[in-house]
Amino acid sequence: MTDRYSQLVNAPVLSTVARQLGLPQPVDLDRRRPGAPVIAGPVLSGAAPGARLERALKAVLDAIGAERAGAGGKAKALVFDASGIADSTELVELQRFFYPAVARLQRSGRVVVLGTTPTLAGSARAHTAQRALEGFSRSLAKEIGGKGATAQLVYVEPGAEDQLASTLRFLLSPRSAYVDGQVIRIGPGVAPTPEIDWDLPLAGKTALVTGASRGIGAAIAATLGRDGAKVVGLDVPQAAGDLRAVVEALGGEALALDITAADAPEQIAAHFAEGLDVVVHNAGVTRDRTIAKMPEDRWTQLIEINLSAEERIDDALLNSGRLNANGRLVCVSSMSGIAGNSGQTNYAASKAGVIGMVESLAPALAEREATINAVAPGFIETRMTAAMPIGPREAGRRLSSLSQGGLPVDVAETIAWLASPASTGVNGNVVRVCGQSLLGA
Ligand SMILES: NC(=O)c1ccc[n+]([C@@H]2O[C@H](COP(=O)([O-])OP(=O)(O)OC[C@H]3O[C@@H](n4cnc5c(N)ncnc54)[C@H](O)[C@@H]3O)[C@@H](O)[C@H]2O)c1
Repeated sequence: MTDRYSQLVNAPVLSTVARQLGLPQPVDLDRRRPGAPVIAGPVLSGAAPGARLERALKAVLDAIGAERAGAGGKAKALVFDASGIADSTELVELQRFFYPAVARLQRSGRVVVLGTTPTLAGSARAHTAQRALEGFSRSLAKEIGGKGATAQLVYVEPGAEDQLASTLRFLLSPRSAYVDGQVIRIGPGVAPTPEIDWDLPLAGKTALVTGASRGIGAAIAATLGRDGAKVVGLDVPQAAGDLRAVVEALGGEALALDITAADAPEQIAAHFAEGLDVVVHNAGVTRDRTIAKMPEDRWTQLIEINLSAEERIDDALLNSGRLNANGRLVCVSSMSGIAGNSGQTNYAASKAGVIGMVESLAPALAEREATINAVAPGFIETRMTAAMPIGPREAGRRLSSLSQGGLPVDVAETIAWLASPASTGVNGNVVRVCGQSLLGA
C-alpha cells in the first residue's frame, strides 16, 4: 500500500518545504532483516539507585552481543533501570540520565524504561513513584517519535527478573517498529524460561491462525512459520484457494472452516488431536453503521465472528486439554475497542470484549502454565484501510507519534513475541501496535 504523503514530504526539495511548513515527515522505520543482529548499534544503559534488574539486563545485552555506547557517541538504544525508585523525589534520576542521553539516540532508536509493578513496589510512596514512570515514558515516546524512535515501559514483578529476555529482545529490535508508548507487565510465569533457539523460537510448535488467507492473518502465518512453527491456517471455505496458497508456501496446513459454524469448536479440537501450542484469534470483520441504523442481524453476525466464536473455540480447546503446556492464546483486538469509534458500536464492543476475554482467562491460563494476551492494532496498511475515504485515512496515518500507518508484519511480529515459549511471564497484557496513535491514548 503506498503512502504518497510520506513519499512527497521526504522527496528532494519538497522535504525542505515540508520542514519549513512544519508538516510531519515520517521516517522510514527500521524493520527486521534476516540475519541482522537484534540491535544494530550501541546501547547506553543506566540505573537509578536500588535497581533490581541490572543483572538481568546485562545478561540480555551480553547474550545479544550488544555493543555498549561510548562516552558521548551515538546510541541505538537507551535503557534505564528505574526499578529501584521508591519515592517521587528520586524520579529526578530519569532527568539525570535522559537529559544528556536523548540527543544521542539514533533514527529508529529504542528507549526502554524498566520499573517495578507499582502494586508490588512495597510502599505507598514507591507505588506512586513507579506509577509516575508511565507518564514519563509515554511523553518521551511523543518527543522522539519524529525520528522513528519508540519508548516503552516494562514493569517487572519482584521475582520475575529472569523473564525479561524475550520482551527486551523484542523491544530493542526492529521487530517492534510500530509498538510505541506501551506499558508491558511481566510476571514470574509458572514455568522457567525454557532453553530456546532465538532464531527459531517456535521450532516443534504447532500454531493455529484464523483468518489466515490474507491481510494481517497471512502476515501472522508467515511470521510464525519463519519462527519455526508448523502453521495451520484457517479461513472461510470461500477463501480456501487463497488460504492454501498462503499455508503451502510455509509447508503448513489449510483448514477451510467458518468459525461461527455450530460444530467449528469440535472440528478444530478434532483437527488437533495431538495438541497445539499457539492459537491466534485473528479472523474478524467490520459491519459499520451507527446504532440508530444497526439491524439486529448485522450486530449479531459481527459479535459472533469477532467474539463469541473465539470464546467457544477457547472453551473447546481448554476443556479437551488440546492446548499444550506453555501454550499461548493471542487475540487481535483493536484501537477501536479501546477508544470507541462512531459507526462501530458493534465492532468496538466485540474488540473491547476481546480485552475482557484476556483479563478473565489470564489467571486460569497461568494455572495451566499457559498465557493469553492481545494485540490492539491501530492504523495498519491493508486492503481494508486502503478503501477508507481519504480524510479518515490520512488522519489515521498522521495522528500518531510515528506519523504513519503500520504494516501487517508489525502486528505479526508482536504476536510472534507473545507466542514465543520464552514469553512465559507475559500474561494478561494488551499491547497496542499503533505507533502511539492519539486515539484512545
Ligand atoms: N487493518 C487494520 O487496520 C486493523 C486494525 C485493528 C484491528 N484489526 C483486526 O485485525 C484482524 C485482521 O484484519 P485484516 O485487516 O487483515 O482484515 P481482512 O478482512 O483482510 O482479514 C480478515 C480475515 O478473516 C476471515 N474471516 C472473516 N470471518 C470469518 C469466519 N467467520 N471464519 C473464518 N474466517 C473468517 C476473512 O475471510 C479474512 O481472510 C481483524 O480481527 C481486524 O478486526 C485490523
